[in-house]
Amino acid sequence: MKTIATLGSHCALQILKGAKDEGFETVIITKKSREGLYRRFDFVDNFIAVEHFSEITESAHLARLNELDSILIPHGTLISEVGIKKVENDLSIPFFGSRGILKWEADRDLKERLMKESDFRTPKIFESAEDIDRLTIVKRSGAAGGFGYFLAKDLASFNENMSRLRSAGILQSDEEVQIQEYVVGVPVYFQFFYSKVKNRLELIGIDRRYETNVDGLGRLPAWEQLEMKEGFFPSYLVVGNSPLVLRESLLNYVFEMGEKFVEACTRLVPPGMIGPFCIEGVYNEKGDFIAFEFSGRIVAGTNLYVSGSPYSSLLFDQPVSMGRRIAIEIREGVESGSIGKLLT
Ligand SMILES: Nc1ncnc2c1ncn2[C@@H]1O[C@H](COP(=O)(O)OP(=O)(O)O)[C@@H](O)[C@H]1O
Ligand SMILES: [Mg+2]
Repeated sequence: MKTIATLGSHCALQILKGAKDEGFETVIITKKSREGLYRRFDFVDNFIAVEHFSEITESAHLARLNELDSILIPHGTLISEVGIKKVENDLSIPFFGSRGILKWEADRDLKERLMKESDFRTPKIFESAEDIDRLTIVKRSGAAGGFGYFLAKDLASFNENMSRLRSAGILQSDEEVQIQEYVVGVPVYFQFFYSKVKNRLELIGIDRRYETNVDGLGRLPAWEQLEMKEGFFPSYLVVGNSPLVLRESLLNYVFEMGEKFVEACTRLVPPGMIGPFCIEGVYNEKGDFIAFEFSGRIVAGTNLYVSGSPYSSLLFDQPVSMGRRIAIEIREGVESGSIGKLLT
């Protein structure tokens, strides 16, 4: 019997609970400081304690994971703390999903290309600040956790914000930024699962994110906002998620979008999409969905639905979280002899 492994962070509890529910043994790679947290839960069977997650590529840890016949479930912390290069080159254990997609998610140009190939409506990108002719959001290139992004409506406000952020030490002088049309509307995050076993695209859940400090701005009267410009730096750091159900008439396009993304991945990112991914964007004033990014793996917003969501309940007769959905796929892959297609 195989063991399901993941790093102790992000959505680990949901993943391992789902694995246990499907009859797997579980192993967590946890920081020593958090081992106590994970010991509170009966569904965590084995522990590998580290000081830093990047130690996971050390041979002793890999040997233990392989001895347990582990399949690793990747999530955001694997990418942010271990890094794509190490995940691609040094992590010699079976990996659920596509390793290849990770770099398409991390690189803004590749990301843009895959979204265009998917035929998504996307915000206009401004190659030069001189061309800014509407409200834009200016994003830093690295994984900045949404800190140091700002809004600019023209060249002057772009330059003003750039120098403000540089003199505050938030932006490095040579740091590249991306200038993107700002879409006013409702930000929505679609949690999809593509099953290779069933050849089926599933919508597992939908969420909204609470991002600090921008989501706090609306709680202030306009006159207070006007006063606080000095020393105020917007941030889009996610602090939590809340559930959302969509108007049913909008759902058809959501599935079309997911299907097109899966097809684009088949063409550009072999062996194609496997398992969870997320499409992220804003519904504008006309109710059109404008996608600003995707994640090619499980997102933490799925933690809302440990006991199933309004959408997963339509597909399964039992509560199915994204974590459990992954475990079902692995179990069915093993049973049907197609597990090889799910691992990279
Ligand atoms: N084009 C846009 N229009 C409106 N809001 C946006 C746009 N792009 C991003 N945002 C907001 O900024 C947040 C962070 O942007 P995102 O592209 O997801 O950056 P990151 O790569 O750091 O996750 C989003 O979650 C959303 O709230
Ligand atoms: Mg994002």
